[in-house]
Amino acid sequence: MDARIVLRISVLVLLLYSAVTQKCPAGGRSESSIVGWMLRGHVYDTLFAELPFTCAFKCREDNRCQSFNWIISVLMCEFNNRTKEARPEDFIPNQDRSYYRRGLQRVPLGSIQELPAETCDEIKRSEGHAVSGKYWFSTIKSGTSVLAYCNMETNDIDECGASSPVCDINANCSNTRGSYICTCRAGYTGDGKTCQDIDECSASSPVCDINANCSNTRGSYICTCRAGYTGDGKTCQDIDECGASTPVCDINANCSNTRGSYICTCRAGYTGDGKTCQDIDECSASSLVCDINANCSNTRGSYICTCRAGYTGDGKTCQGKIKVDFL
Ligand SMILES: *[C@@H]1O[C@H](CO)[C@@H](O)[C@H](O)[C@H]1NC(C)=O
Ligand SMILES: *[C@@H]1O[C@H](CO)[C@@H](O)[C@H](O)[C@H]1NC(C)=O
Ligand SMILES: *[C@@H]1O[C@H](CO)[C@@H](O)[C@H](O)[C@H]1NC(C)=O
Ligand SMILES: *[C@@H]1O[C@H](CO)[C@@H](O)[C@H](O)[C@H]1NC(C)=O
Ligand SMILES: *[C@@H]1O[C@H](CO)[C@@H](O)[C@H](O)[C@H]1NC(C)=O
Repeated sequence: MDARIVLRISVLVLLLYSAVTQKCPAGGRSESSIVGWMLRGHVYDTLFAELPFTCAFKCREDNRCQSFNWIISVLMCEFNNRTKEARPEDFIPNQDRSYYRRGLQRVPLGSIQELPAETCDEIKRSEGHAVSGKYWFSTIKSGTSVLAYCNMETNDIDECGASSPVCDINANCSNTRGSYICTCRAGYTGDGKTCQDIDECSASSPVCDINANCSNTRGSYICTCRAGYTGDGKTCQDIDECGASTPVCDINANCSNTRGSYICTCRAGYTGDGKTCQDIDECSASSLVCDINANCSNTRGSYICTCRAGYTGDGKTCQGKIKVDFL
């Protein structure tokens, strides 16, 4: 068939179709056509079809279909996911096209996940009127459709209450008119959309006492006083172990407190590490502690020297009585 004839028949069919559909009662029960116009930039699919009817049926099978452009010369339709009411700026004259708005069972913009809106205002324009409530939006998170509350009076979307979080899990979200603010919580740093844990332990100024160990945690840190110190970790005091109720040194040792520790020293006559001290048996020492003419008797912490019979002295030195008598 001659292309011109096809074109003429198409235009005829189109006009007939338009005449029929425009007689339908208002309230969008059927598709209505606007010859010589098209909606630009919202095509999600195309279809070669002899008649616009075919496109109208196909349109009704897809929840995304809001309207379609019929290209007369190529017998093809372009399915739009918007109406001209939603996007008046994209509704432009085109010699080769006709615009059909879906009438039957058109899904309201933003009411389903497959048909997200960009703004609250777009929903109002598309539907003529809309009540505040939850709608699907494509503009909250890129590449995904998100459900959020829309205040139709202020045109504000509550991004903070969106079905998918807009801020980092460790951030506070604060809704503002027309936008929102993400603020990383204490212990985290970042732009709020992503927050990183702060390692307080490697900060330039120490967060714990100089005598504490610092341990980083998610969002915080823990200070633990080192052995020999007591406190909350941010401040640590030296423990006076020598003043403790239960003695830390042997009963026969001297205790001396130091910063962070203590020293036990066995007293004279005892030997050991100070925590335990053993009595020294001076009488069995390799070098004599008593006079050669004395008896040695060990005691706890000391010893006693007693000059043997016939000798006199303190035991460490003994003089023979005879010798004294002789002198
Ligand atoms: C609607 O159509 C536009 C233009 O083709 C496309 O970029 C967008 O992803 C479509 N939206 C959906 C939800 O299909
Ligand atoms: C985040 O919110 C909590 C609870 O409302 C509040 O205590 C905290 O100060 C907030 N933090 C920031 C950084 O806004
Ligand atoms: C402190 O850290 C040191 C070295 O890592 C470790 O030996 C010690 O047990 C820690 N002390 C406490 C109280 O955590
Ligand atoms: C232990 O303490 C006493 C009394 O302070 C002192 O006389 C003595 O020399 C000390 N002994 C040692 C081994 O430190
Ligand atoms: C010294 O030891 C001897 C032998 O054990 C004993 O016979 C003597 O009585 C002792 N003398 C004194 C003064 O203790």
